[in-house]
Amino acid sequence: MFSRLEQLPPDPLLGLMELYRNDTNPNKIDLGVGVYKNERGDTPILAAVKQAEKNIFDEEATKAYIGPPGAASFNLAMQQLLFGKGHAALSENRVRTVQAPGGCGALRVAAEFIKRCDGNSNIWVSDPTWANHVPLLGGAGIKLKSYPYYDYQKHEVKFDAMLETLNQASNNDLVLLHGCCHNPSGADLTNEQWQQVTLLAEQKGFVPFIDLAYQGYGEGLSEDVYSIRLMSERLPEVIIASSCSKNFGLYRERVGSLSVIAANRKEADASLSHLTNVIRGIYSMPPSHGAAIVSTILEDDELTRLWHQELKEMRNRLNGMRALLVDKLSSAGASRDFSFIVNQKGMFSFLGLSGEQVTALQKNHSVYMASSSRINIAGINHNNVNYLTRAIISVL
Ligand code: LMR
Repeated sequence: MFSRLEQLPPDPLLGLMELYRNDTNPNKIDLGVGVYKNERGDTPILAAVKQAEKNIFDEEATKAYIGPPGAASFNLAMQQLLFGKGHAALSENRVRTVQAPGGCGALRVAAEFIKRCDGNSNIWVSDPTWANHVPLLGGAGIKLKSYPYYDYQKHEVKFDAMLETLNQASNNDLVLLHGCCHNPSGADLTNEQWQQVTLLAEQKGFVPFIDLAYQGYGEGLSEDVYSIRLMSERLPEVIIASSCSKNFGLYRERVGSLSVIAANRKEADASLSHLTNVIRGIYSMPPSHGAAIVSTILEDDELTRLWHQELKEMRNRLNGMRALLVDKLSSAGASRDFSFIVNQKGMFSFLGLSGEQVTALQKNHSVYMASSSRINIAGINHNNVNYLTRAIISVL
C-alpha cells in the first residue's frame, strides 16, 4: 500500500531550516522561519517562562487528563489577554474559549467547527497569506477564496481593492484577518481601516475569523487586539485563533487558544459543545505544559510584569533592526528605497526581490529567506547587518 506514495519535497519554509543547518559558511544568516532571535542569534527561554516552569515543577500534583477544552484557568487567562477585563462580549457571556495545540491547532479546530456550522461556507484569505493557512483550513475541506491585500509596488495594504472584493462575501462566509503583524507582509490595517472592515462585516453578515499569532509584537499587547475588541463588541459572531508561540516564546510546547464569540449565551454554549466534540475526534485533549506556563505567568503579577518587560524588549529589538537595516541599505547606496520596512510590524517584511535574487542570496552569500523574499527581521543583528547589506546590494 505504501508503495503507491511518491516522495514529497520538504515544506518550503521548514526545509530552509535544514538547508541553513547544513551550510558551513561562518557568515550564514537565517531570515527564514518565524522564530524570535536575540542579538546573539539565540532563541532563549524567557525568564518569566523559566520561573513559571519552576513553580509548576514544585506545585503540579497530577498528570491526569485535562479534558478536550483544556485547562479552565488558561482559557480564562487567554480571554482576559484578548479582550481585557470587563469587555462587553465577556459580560454578555457570549465568549467560549478552548485551549489548542498552538495557533495551528486552533485554526484546524476552527475549520472543522465552521464545517459543522455550514458546509457551504467559504473562507476568504488575504493575498498573500501565511502559506500554512491553505492546508490547515483547506485541508478540512473548506473552499478558500482570496482577497487582494498587499501591494508589492507600493509596499502597503491595497485597502480599496480589499474592501471591494470582500463586498462579494456572503453571510455564510468567513474572512480570515491577521489581527496584527501580517504574515508574510508586515503591513497591517490602521484602526480606521479595521472600523471599515467591521462596518462591512455588519452590512454583509460575513464572520471575521481573526488569526492572532503575534500579539505584543506590533505596538503592544492591547494595541494589537484593537480589531478583536472592536469586532467582538460590534458583531454577533467572531472567531479568534490565538498563538502563544511567539509572544511567550513557547514554540515547541504547542500552545494557543480558540475563541468563539456567539450572538448569545445559548449559541455560545452550543458552540462550545461542538468545539469539545471536534477536539475529542481529532486529538482528544491538548497537551498541558505550555498552557500551564501561560496561566502561571498571567495569574501572577510579578511574572506578568517580567513577561511584559521581556515582550517589550523583543518588540523594541525588532523595530530597532528594521531601522538599522533600512539605514545601512540607504547609506550603502542601495538603488531602491527600503524605508517601507520601518513602517511595517512584527517579524516579517518582503524585501521585494525576485526568485532569482533570493536564490543568488542563498547560493552566493548563504543568506536564507522564503522564496517570496519574506525576511524574518529577528535574524538580523549588529554583527551580521553589514554582511547582509552588502549581500542584498550585490543582487539588486
Ligand atoms: C512562519 O511563518 O515562519 C512561522 O509561522 C513558522 C511556521 O510554522 O511557518
